Amino acid sequence: MQKLTVVEARKAESAGKSARLQGWVRTRRDSKGGFSFLELNDGSSLAGMQVIADAKLENYESEIKHLGAGASVTVEGEVKASPAQGQATELHADKVIVHGLADPETYPLQKKRHSFEFLRTLAHLRPRTNTFGAVARVRNCVCRSIHNFFQEDGFLYVHPPIITASDCEGAGEMFKVTTLDLAKVPKANGAVDYTQDFFDRPSYLTVSGQLEAEIFACALGKVYTFGPTFRAENSNTSRHLAEFWMVEPEMAFFELTDNMDLAERFLKRIFGDVLTQCAEDMAFFDERVEKGIRETLQGVVASDFVRLPYTEAVEILTKSGHTFEFPVSWGNDLQAEHERYLTEQHFQKPVILFDYPRSIKPFYMRCNEDGRTVRAMDILVPKVGEIIGGSQREERLDVLTERMQDQKLDPETYWWYLDLRRYGTVPHSGFGLGLERAVQFVTGMANIRDVIPFPRVPGSADF
Ligand code: 4AD
Ligand code: MG
Repeated sequence: MQKLTVVEARKAESAGKSARLQGWVRTRRDSKGGFSFLELNDGSSLAGMQVIADAKLENYESEIKHLGAGASVTVEGEVKASPAQGQATELHADKVIVHGLADPETYPLQKKRHSFEFLRTLAHLRPRTNTFGAVARVRNCVCRSIHNFFQEDGFLYVHPPIITASDCEGAGEMFKVTTLDLAKVPKANGAVDYTQDFFDRPSYLTVSGQLEAEIFACALGKVYTFGPTFRAENSNTSRHLAEFWMVEPEMAFFELTDNMDLAERFLKRIFGDVLTQCAEDMAFFDERVEKGIRETLQGVVASDFVRLPYTEAVEILTKSGHTFEFPVSWGNDLQAEHERYLTEQHFQKPVILFDYPRSIKPFYMRCNEDGRTVRAMDILVPKVGEIIGGSQREERLDVLTERMQDQKLDPETYWWYLDLRRYGTVPHSGFGLGLERAVQFVTGMANIRDVIPFPRVPGSADF
């Protein structure tokens, strides 16, 4: 007897096989004809397997008739062609082994549909629902696609540290890592004495692996990182997490336009792969979560992204006649409402904004000749807003040192970063894609907390 997953057993060619299936019951329906229907789900697909359990089975009265949502079983029997609509096959059980019942009085996932807010309080059970199963499969597909894209393109996967002493984005939004006893912190001259701490200096969880990726790009050409990053920004929004996953490619001998071309090709590959490899789950998101999401993705894959300098974006926004909560003026960072206006209303497709004012961007971005802007690029998509942030890097030692001083960063502590410009400097570029923002965009899920298994946000680190 062969062990089959539900997705395998549901295929028409499995009819006639004798098989063992294992999973969790979603529903049980008893028929007057002396048998019961069980819907069995094992996570291999959105759809479950219909199991037919005859009343003649020896544990029918004692166990099978008590099965309900959440119970776990092994079913052995024969896969047969099904007369029912919407399924090619069904499983006629010869044996049903019950591993664990789930008391219907207390099992929380009884109703067909629960609110996502409610399910957030059940992070240990929500993967058993249709939506969260589908999110998990799509998230996996996006990750596979990310690796495939870079591996096929000759990139090396490199691993920056999670604990670091440098603040890549210079925004001071870092979680401190310490073994000091917070109840009696050692002091020297009135300040915390970090020489007594584990790493001998203030240390943090990384906000980005970019600086270390640059080290490898400046030796190996094309590299990417893919791992967890942490931000202690106190933003309680539907697009921010305190712990999220970021993919950061970094390429030597790439200028900003090469960077944009790569990022556009990369996003299109991910969206295309999800449409073809997760067709069943995407049909579900289209029907239940965001109507038209598949068509939106197909449109994005087929069309060119808009490329627009920040200065022109500001002009469009100021002339739009639209009232924004925050005023738009050259030199200020764009707010989510401005970004969304551009991508959702004005252009109705992804927009790559570039050449931002230097005063609002980190020290590492390459300065333009105009003395006011840097070679930054952000990619904006409908609903989510910024999905990618990147830039060409400043490769000139003197300009970079000056920029660090402007931003009150101590060049001494970044000596190794400056060495990359001292010895064999090259033009180079890179960007960061927030994995959860990408999964949000492809699934249409409104809240970022519902596309990561265990969301970390201000005031909550349950599970
Ligand atoms: O724009 P960011 O801050 O860029 C960087 O960190 C660069 N070092 C990347 C690089 O050039 N290598 O972040 C990049 C992306 C954002 O566009 C967004 O998708 C995501 O990371 N992101 C977040 N996602 C979820 N929660 C947060 N708090 C996020 N902050 C950034
Ligand atoms: Mg950004």
